[in-house]
Amino acid sequence: MDRPLRVIQWTTGNIGRRSLHAILGRPDLELVGVYAHGAEKIGKDAADLCGWPTPTGVLATGDVAALLALGADACCYNPLWPSIDELCVLLEAGVNVCTSAAWITGGKQTPEDLDRIRKACERGDATIFGSGAHPGMTNLVGMVLSGACERVDEIRITESVDCSTYESAGTQRAMGFAQHPDTPGLAESVRRESEVFAESAAMMADALGVTLDEMTFDVEFTTATGDSDLGFMTIPAGTVGGVLGYHRGWSGGRNVVSVGFNWVMGEYAVPPKPLAHGHVIQVFGRPNMRTVLHCLPPEDWTEPGFMGLGMIYTAMPVTNAVPYVVAAPPGIVTLADLPPITGWLAGFGC
Ligand SMILES: NC(=O)c1ccc[n+]([C@@H]2O[C@H](COP(=O)([O-])OP(=O)(O)OC[C@H]3O[C@@H](n4cnc5c(N)ncnc54)[C@H](OP(=O)(O)O)[C@@H]3O)[C@@H](O)[C@H]2O)c1
Repeated sequence: MDRPLRVIQWTTGNIGRRSLHAILGRPDLELVGVYAHGAEKIGKDAADLCGWPTPTGVLATGDVAALLALGADACCYNPLWPSIDELCVLLEAGVNVCTSAAWITGGKQTPEDLDRIRKACERGDATIFGSGAHPGMTNLVGMVLSGACERVDEIRITESVDCSTYESAGTQRAMGFAQHPDTPGLAESVRRESEVFAESAAMMADALGVTLDEMTFDVEFTTATGDSDLGFMTIPAGTVGGVLGYHRGWSGGRNVVSVGFNWVMGEYAVPPKPLAHGHVIQVFGRPNMRTVLHCLPPEDWTEPGFMGLGMIYTAMPVTNAVPYVVAAPPGIVTLADLPPITGWLAGFGC
C-alpha cells in the first residue's frame, strides 16, 4: 500500500480506547471513523475518547451507514458483545475486520451464522480475524513453543491472574463471579461465556495437524470469605471469587490441547490454584516447555495501577494485525494462517 490504511474504531471501552490510541499513533494507519454504542460518546472527538493529546476532527457516531460510506480498509471491532449482523454489514461493505470480541475461528457460532459470515466475506472480498491477549497471543506462543519439541503431547494455556481491576462487570458476572456457586446453570454460563477459548484450542490443534473429535469443559469455583467492593461490582461473602476452568480438545481419547483460566476477584477470595500473575504456556512432550508471559510497565508508565497494560496487551494483537489482515485472502483467517504479526517500531514512518 502506498497510502495509510483507512481504519474505523468500533467502540471505545477498555480495549477499544487502547486500539484507538494506537491507530492514532501509527503513520501507516489513518483513523477515518469511530463507532460509539453509548449515547454519551456520540459527537465526541476521538482524542477525548482515548486520551490523545490533540483533537483529531474525527467524531464518534452511531450512524453505521455513514461509517460504511467512508470506504474504510479495516475496522478494529472491540464491542462488549459482538453482533453477527454488524460483522456481516462491515464485511459485505468490503471492510476487513480485526476483532477482540469473542472470535478466533468462528467455531462457536451456529452453522447458519458462520455461513452468513463466510458469504459476507465473499461478497465484500473481505477478511475477518480475531485475536487478543488470551485467547490470541497466548495461543500463538504455545504454537510456536511446540516447535521446540520432538514430540508434543499437549499444549496447555492458562491465564492465571487477579482480575479485580478489569472493569467489565457484564463479562465477570457471566464468568460466575459474585454468583452463588450452586446457582443452577452456572458452569454452563461460564462455558458459554468463555467458549472462544475452545475456538483457540481448536486453532492450536489444527496448527498441529490434529482433528479434534471432542471438546469438553470443566470448571471449579472458590467462594469469597468476606465482602469486596470493587467499585464497578461487589463480590459478597459466600459468592464466587475464584474460577478455574479449561476447555479441552481431545483426539483419539487424548487431551491434546487445553485453554483455560485461573481467575480470582476481590480481597477475600482464594484462587483455585496459586496465581502465576501472567499467562502460563506449557507444552508437554519431549522436552516439556514452559514459559510465563508477564505484562510489565515501561519506565514512562504514569497511569495509576497496571490494568491498562493488560488492556494494551489485549488490544495490540488485534490492531497490529490490520495490515496483515488487509493483505490476507478473503474469508476467515486465524493466527495459524498469518505471518508473525509484529508491533510498530516507535519513531519510524510509513
Ligand atoms: N482475547 C482477549 O484477550 C480479550 C480480553 C479481554 C476482553 N476481550 C473481549 O474484547 C471485547 C471488549 O472488551 P472490553 O473490556 O473493552 O469491554 P467493555 O469496555 O466492557 O465494553 C466495550 C464497549 O462495548 C460497548 N457496549 C457496552 N454495553 C454494550 C451492549 N450491551 N451492547 C453492545 N455494546 C455494548 C460500549 O461501547 P462504547 O464505548 O461505544 O459506549 C463499551 O465501551 C469483549 O468482547 C471482550 O470479551 C478479549
